[in-house]
Amino acid sequence: MNPVTHAQLDWDDQGRPHSRVFDDVYFSDQSGLEETRYVFLQQNRLQERFAALPVGGRLVIGETGFGTGLNFLCAWQLFEQHAVAGARLHFVSVEKYPLSHADLQRALALWPELAPFAEPLLAQYVAIHQGFQRLILANGRVTLTLLIGDALEQLPQLDAQIDAWFLDGFAPAKNPDMWTAELFAELARLAAPGSTISTFTSTGWVRRLINGAGFKMKRTPGIGHKWEILRGEFLGWPAETPPPAVAKPWFARPPAARGERRALVIGGGLAGCASAASLAARGWQVSLLERHDGLAREASGNPQGVLYLKLSAHGTALSQLIVSGFGHTRRLLEQLQRGVDWDGCGVLQLAFNAKEAERQAQLAEAFDPQLLLLLDQQQAQVRAGVALEHGGLYFPEGGWVHPPALCQWQAQQPGIDVLPHHDVLELRKADGQWQAWDGERLLASAPVVVLAGAAEIKRFAPSAGLPLKRIRGQITALAQTPASQALSTVVCAEGYVAPARLGEHTLGASFDFNSLDLTPSAADHAGNLALLEEISPDLRQRLHADALDPEQLQGRAAFRCTSPDYLPIVGPLADPALFNEAYSVLGKDARQVPDTPCPWLDGLYVNSGHGSRGLITAPLSGELLAAWLDNEPLPLPRSVAQDCHPNRFAVRALIRGKA
Ligand SMILES: Cc1cc2nc3c(=O)[nH]c(=O)nc-3n(C[C@H](O)[C@H](O)[C@H](O)COP(=O)(O)OP(=O)(O)OC[C@H]3O[C@@H](n4cnc5c(N)ncnc54)[C@H](O)[C@@H]3O)c2cc1C
Ligand SMILES: C[S@@+](CC[C@H](N)C(=O)[O-])C[C@H]1O[C@@H](n2cnc3c(N)ncnc32)[C@H](O)[C@@H]1O
Repeated sequence: MNPVTHAQLDWDDQGRPHSRVFDDVYFSDQSGLEETRYVFLQQNRLQERFAALPVGGRLVIGETGFGTGLNFLCAWQLFEQHAVAGARLHFVSVEKYPLSHADLQRALALWPELAPFAEPLLAQYVAIHQGFQRLILANGRVTLTLLIGDALEQLPQLDAQIDAWFLDGFAPAKNPDMWTAELFAELARLAAPGSTISTFTSTGWVRRLINGAGFKMKRTPGIGHKWEILRGEFLGWPAETPPPAVAKPWFARPPAARGERRALVIGGGLAGCASAASLAARGWQVSLLERHDGLAREASGNPQGVLYLKLSAHGTALSQLIVSGFGHTRRLLEQLQRGVDWDGCGVLQLAFNAKEAERQAQLAEAFDPQLLLLLDQQQAQVRAGVALEHGGLYFPEGGWVHPPALCQWQAQQPGIDVLPHHDVLELRKADGQWQAWDGERLLASAPVVVLAGAAEIKRFAPSAGLPLKRIRGQITALAQTPASQALSTVVCAEGYVAPARLGEHTLGASFDFNSLDLTPSAADHAGNLALLEEISPDLRQRLHADALDPEQLQGRAAFRCTSPDYLPIVGPLADPALFNEAYSVLGKDARQVPDTPCPWLDGLYVNSGHGSRGLITAPLSGELLAAWLDNEPLPLPRSVAQDCHPNRFAVRALIRGKA
């Protein structure tokens, strides 16, 4: 894995950016705005297509080369001018060298008329790291999915249907990687029927290669000093080329929901609130059912949780999910109140033994220094404001979150009806509707249900077989002292401690695989104090921990809910018995791919298994779920979405002969 590098820019005498790596301009010298509008918006007929979108309709634009985001902002402006309320724009763009925030701001300042769009983009342009990064704009009316990395690495992982392509690499002679047959085959694979395409170049070999991928390109008069440009449409995958691989039926998209856009979400923690928010942003009417008297009363109810990134240098599915999920959560938090709801004070993971130090050194090689950097002991102490015995890995954009605040904020989005004191005991299906029953009482019904009740989802027959485990955890609340105010970042070793929120530090957390008792215990408080000693004896002293009696300490306990592979479980559910019947052949030959469609339980979805990192994985999982439901571009690489798919366990069991 190569860490992301920011664009290296020079600025000309008129303040326009120029790429040092490619020795080329980001937009036309004459009028970037006019060229963008002519080459990309007009040639893809976007004005009329936006105007024709019905309420609930959407258009998906794909782009090679996000650069300064000028094309995106112009498309958004046009969408705003012509699309009805209730229509949506989804823009997916790949970028190998993202601009730094400062450079993006400087470049976009060139276009004052785009300021109403540039400002919200800049406000969300944080934590843009490698892989898929989703930005939610205009309250969900506009979604931007940035694929940070080389186009030829990123696009093959995209699962989307693109209605209009903008080809905007640097000039073919200077940036040949962006104009290859391989890349055009990806554009064809991703093209929706009737997809359109345009580019500023009219170079003959480029036109021939794009045509060869299944598009029909036409030369058309250019603009400014471009004599001719190209526009075209997708005719279909060329007969002479082997067709692209399709998803295995158990990971294929279920039929998109039709008819009434009403959903029940069962469970009012981070996973349920995120699912509700992602659906509501797409125009769904959501009833959010929670058995307690309010939201975030179980695992999501701790006063402070940490944005803790446990990464791998080897680009595992979990690691990719964490980088994408962290970015997404971090951007959502920009809408909440700093200091009370969350704080971006940074997170320091101490290198508390040689193995951890080695792991951290590998991570520092694999990720960009805006995400994480190694600090020696001296530097770490300066960051933390307290004495430390080790250096470590510092995540400057990390911090702590008050999870109930994130839940409340998500559940307040228009279209969500929160129903406390609704304990769903049974699900039934009648007349195309899922019904939530509490004994003899029908609580609510809708064509779609999302099960977001952590390990409690095992009480429902269709999800009873999912391998979810409860792990009890307890945090300890420690009163801030004058001396502990010096703590200026979250510090983690095996446990974690955060700078105080409203006068209290959260110290966590115990792990207990056996206990089902949620009464806070003195033994776990004592265990947490031992974790504090490992983090910083100095901080322990500053908190007068020696004088604290574990019997008197305050805290709370809850269950984490984990899956055996530590990935969450997010997506559509199939009928377990019919599934085993349909794919029983996997027990004899794991390479078989029967063409039997998956026996989906229409409208039944799950979002669970967020383990110890729900703050990072649950919000993006809400987006993933909505993308499965609404047949939208997935916010994660296809392979990662499959690794989170509920069907993975049934497939593995069949292959091992254990179904
Ligand atoms: C001690 C501890 C410390 C943690 N620290 C961190 C941390 O630092 N960083 C981090 O990212 N994560 C942390 N986590 C993990 C994080 O809290 C979880 O991953 C996250 O809260 C899971 O959210 P959830 O919505 O899936 O589950 P929950 O928050 O448990 O929500 C499930 C909800 O569903 C409701 N429900 C269940 N069944 C039904 C039903 N049938 N009808 C109606 N309602 C139902 C429950 O009442 C509950 O409110 C910690 C967890 C614990 C326990
Ligand atoms: C002409 S600029 C794009 C301008 C942009 N669309 C805008 O509106 O500002 C081309 C972009 O392609 C990016 N790029 C070049 N080679 C790439 C590759 N192999 N993969 C992904 N992006 C690449 C460059 O970093 C640059 O940002």
